[in-house]
Amino acid sequence: MDNSLTIKKAFEASKRAYVPYSDCHVGAAICLNDGTIIQGCNIENASYGLSNCAERSALFSLISQGYKKEEINHMVIVSDFKGDTRPCGACRQVMLELLPVNAPIYMLNLDGSFAEKTILELEYEGEFIIIANEDQVDLHGKHQEIYPTYISSPVPLTQLYKEEL
Ligand code: THU
Repeated sequence: MDNSLTIKKAFEASKRAYVPYSDCHVGAAICLNDGTIIQGCNIENASYGLSNCAERSALFSLISQGYKKEEINHMVIVSDFKGDTRPCGACRQVMLELLPVNAPIYMLNLDGSFAEKTILELEYEGEFIIIANEDQVDLHGKHQEIYPTYISSPVPLTQLYKEEL
């Protein structure tokens, strides 16, 4: 399915990010099989742990509006990071549960970085997923201070999905 409108909608959502602490704008857009697009942006909070990433905002909005995982076709994530756009461990955890295992996830930044992976491929990147990886530590020079590490489940959750592979 064509992803160009989804990409536009993700950029549009990123402009609505509430980011007084990091000034890092992230947008997500999820396209359903019927073409409906659900958007999400990151929303920060003074108690940093309560901040919501764009990916979770979009997925929680989708579920809140009554849509189902089975209707999802693909997801786009965009950011103004200096490095690659990649979901944090907390988002990967939620995405693994709420995205179809084979749905393409397109990840872009403003400088032209692009990747396409499924949530299973992201999960296979490692048992411990750290948002501030080598590519991202320089993100606006603030990233490490604010969001030092997100660690995903120590149990590879892909085990749970073996039947679907
Ligand atoms: N962020 C996202 O919204 N999604 C990602 O994939 C990575 C990080 C947010 C969290 C925080 O508001 C800001 O980007 C800097 O980490």
